[in-house]
Order: sequence, then structure tokens, then C-alpha cells
Amino acid sequence: MRILGIETTCDETAAAVVRLTPEGSGEILADEVMSQIAAHAAFGGVVPEIAARAHVEVIDMLIARALARAGIAARDLDGVAAAAGPGLIGGVLVGLMAGKGIALATGKPLIAVNHLEAHALTARLTANIAFPYLILLASGGHTQILAVKGVGDYDRLGATMDDAIGEAFDKTAKMLGLPYPGGPAVEAAAQAGDPERFALPRPMIGRPNADFSLSGLKTAVRFAAEQAAPLTTRDVADLCASFQAAVVDVVEDRMRVGLKRFRERLATAPQAVVVAGGVGANLAIRGALARLCAEAGLPMVAPPQKLCTDNGAMIAWAGIERLRLGRADPLDFAARPRWPL
Ligand code: KG4
Ligand code: ZN
Repeated sequence: MRILGIETTCDETAAAVVRLTPEGSGEILADEVMSQIAAHAAFGGVVPEIAARAHVEVIDMLIARALARAGIAARDLDGVAAAAGPGLIGGVLVGLMAGKGIALATGKPLIAVNHLEAHALTARLTANIAFPYLILLASGGHTQILAVKGVGDYDRLGATMDDAIGEAFDKTAKMLGLPYPGGPAVEAAAQAGDPERFALPRPMIGRPNADFSLSGLKTAVRFAAEQAAPLTTRDVADLCASFQAAVVDVVEDRMRVGLKRFRERLATAPQAVVVAGGVGANLAIRGALARLCAEAGLPMVAPPQKLCTDNGAMIAWAGIERLRLGRADPLDFAARPRWPL
């Protein structure tokens, strides 16, 4: 089974071809990603209208390139998977319509993929993890702790009540004059900083639910930055380190509660603890999860960084997972800007 995957829900235009291996995991035959970061950097965040136009400009070329790299003609695909949401409606429409066009022209099944489901299933593309597993899904738009019980079968154990973790990194970067996207910039600056210089809050720690709240932390960074102004490079590094240390503590605590709730609700331990989404690239956060896993005696799985941020291979893989269960979608499937798992 070979599936084309198309991703356009945010600021990455991506097309990939993934093959289902006899062992049951995926082989990435082509994985083309074009980031729009440069187009949005001047605004410190993604501008929906600019994003949609940029997707239109490159989507056909990227799909053609992915098919060429994979050495496969569209008519030889077994299906076409396109992210149908959640995300910015203009961008989602571009990728979904491209996918529908190819499915219609070739008569192959369309799989309308939930972008969050694709992040949640990515770990099975590279590592053959069995269900159920616990996952921290953390990107610029989403922060959730899920029990992944099967394809299309998810229990949300916790979620953010305000900002996503990636968003908190992006906003912190913006306040401190660091470039967009903020995650990598804050992580890099934090390396040279003192995590104890600024006493920042650890919102939600100790609460019995596994939810997050990050807007208060962001505000605390703003106050600290205002008090320390004008900021030197040293101040920025210390603020980044202090902010990241607070996030790490929060993630560790929330995931510990998530694990407890997983065990209570499913009456079994997870097969693995997985981290996915762009924030999964953060080494300090990965370290916190590794500590938690070591303590609980569970394997930790973090997909390669390239598969943690938005990409087409994860959409193709989610398409494979659904299609092999016979779950294709009609060609009039509507784009869903909001689409909770
Ligand atoms: O999954 P993703 O590529 O796109 C969304 O669906 O949002 O995630 C992007 C988010 C951005 O907010 C970015 O700042 C964050 O992931 N991010 C990081 C790191 N790399 C990317 N956050 C913290 N540390 C990082 N190293
Ligand atoms: Zn994403």
C-alpha cells in the first residue's frame, strides 16, 4: 500500500509518499516540506491570508516532486490522504482540494485526515508501538495529553485551557525580541542562561486533573522582562532559561498526572510514552519525559524531529492506518477548521 499525504493546515506546505511495510510500519519514499517561516517572520506569527496564498503557489509542484522522488505515478497510488483540519481554513482548503482532485482523477480513495490524529499516530510510522499508549501532543496550536487506544479511538486526559505550549514559546520569544518560531530560539538562548535567576510560576502543578494553563506564565515573563529592562543578552538568556525550566516542571507534573489517569481509566499501563508535535523537538522537555519514563519503567518514544513538526509523511501514515481498516471518506468531505479528537 502506497499513499500520498498532503499537509497545509498551518505554515508548512508538505507532500509525501509512504509505503506500508510487511512488518506493519511505514517506509517514507518521499517527504517534501516547504516552510513559510520567512513569509511570516516579520509578523512574529502566522498570517492566515499569507499562509493560504503561499500554499496555493507551491502545492502542485510539491506533490509532483514527491511523486517523482518516490518514483510513482498518481494512478499507481492506493489512496490520497489530505489533512482536512483542524487548522487555518484557507490553508486546509488548498491541500484538501488538491487531494480531492487527485482522488477524483485517479479513482483512488480519499482519506480526510485529522491533523491531530496524524501527530498522534506518527510514532507508529517509525517505531512499531502497540496500542494503547500515552502521548503528549504539543505544538503551536495544540497541547493535549491523550490515551491512544486505537486508530480513531482517543481519550483526552488533559488539555490546555488557554495557550498551547508552542504558543507560549512563540510569545515569549516575541516579548524578548527573539525570532519566530520562538521554540528553537528560546531553547538555544536558554542554553547559556541561569534557570534560577527569575522565579516564575508553575501553573497547575499539583492539580488532580492533567490540564495545562500557560497564559499566566507568559504574563509573568512579561513582568520580569519589564522590570529587568533594558534587557542585555544575559538577561534574555536567563529569562529564556527560567521560562523553559518552568515549562519543563509543568510538563513533567502534568504528564505524571496523565499517566496516573491513564492507568485508572484503562486499567492497564501504556505500552509507551510518546511525545509529538513541534514542541517535541525541545530537548529539555524530552529530558523531563525521559525522567518520568525511567521512574515508571516505561519506554519513551520520540519520533525524529523532522516528523515531530508538521510534515506530509504523518498525513500519509494516518491515511494508511485508516485505509487498511477500510475507512476512506467521500469526496464531498468538508474542511474542518475546528476538529477536536
Ligand atoms: O507541530 P508544529 O510544527 O506546528 C503546529 O501544528 O503548530 O509546531 C510548531 C510549534 C511552534 O510553536 C514552535 O515554536 C514549537 O512548535 N517548537 C518548539 C521547538 N521547536 C518548535 N518549542 C519548544 N522548543 C523547541 N525546540
Ligand atoms: Zn502540527
